[in-house]
Amino acid sequence: MGTISACIFDLDGVVVDTAKYHYIAWKSLANGLGFDFTEEDNERLKGVSRMRSLEILMEIGGVDLDEETQLKLAAKKNEEYLEYILKMTPDEILPGVKIFFEDLKAKGIKIALGSASKNAMTILEQLKLTSYFDAIVDGTHVSKAKPDPEVFLKGAELLGFEPANCVVFEDAEAGVEAAINGGMRCVGIGSPDILNKANFVVPGFEGFTFEKLESGLNK
Ligand code: G6P
Ligand code: MG
Repeated sequence: MGTISACIFDLDGVVVDTAKYHYIAWKSLANGLGFDFTEEDNERLKGVSRMRSLEILMEIGGVDLDEETQLKLAAKKNEEYLEYILKMTPDEILPGVKIFFEDLKAKGIKIALGSASKNAMTILEQLKLTSYFDAIVDGTHVSKAKPDPEVFLKGAELLGFEPANCVVFEDAEAGVEAAINGGMRCVGIGSPDILNKANFVVPGFEGFTFEKLESGLNK
């Protein structure tokens, strides 16, 4: 694999913990439909698109809804989710993320976003992070969900680099697979048990540097 020219970041669970807000909104939808939705259930929705998340939720509750109702409920869930997102502040950026971005900038490494979320731009604006990104690819730009590599390949293309020169940061198994399917190296953010296909895994960005990235990939 080549030198590192760019780093592509997933958003939810990598840059910011939005899972807790997704959880509250999905739970209230489930409760409204008459069943419970646990935090453990919520784990299944990480990295998964909005409509697929609703399908999983319906599976958990054992309910069957027509397409029109599904679209309405997904929009309702998103409205509630947005109420929380619009209250977010830069304090919610996960520890070490901004320092790592600064380190990459100082080393001349390009930064891209590769997220399944259609709310990615809103979230980046709330966190005041938009200007750090040289390219942004989100759920409004792709037609295929992770583990399809489309979102990351588009990011690499926008930056003008080959996949072999890009490194992806991901917290979801499907995201790690998407990076590998796109011919990119991947750093897992979270637990090595779940993200075992990544080149290596770190618990978060606290204390993480470009030097540690290079040495981790060369091991
Ligand atoms: C990310 C999150 C998922 C979420 C998806 C779509 O991948 O990890 O939990 O369902 O984005 O998010 P959206 O903001 O478009 O509903
Ligand atoms: Mg994620």
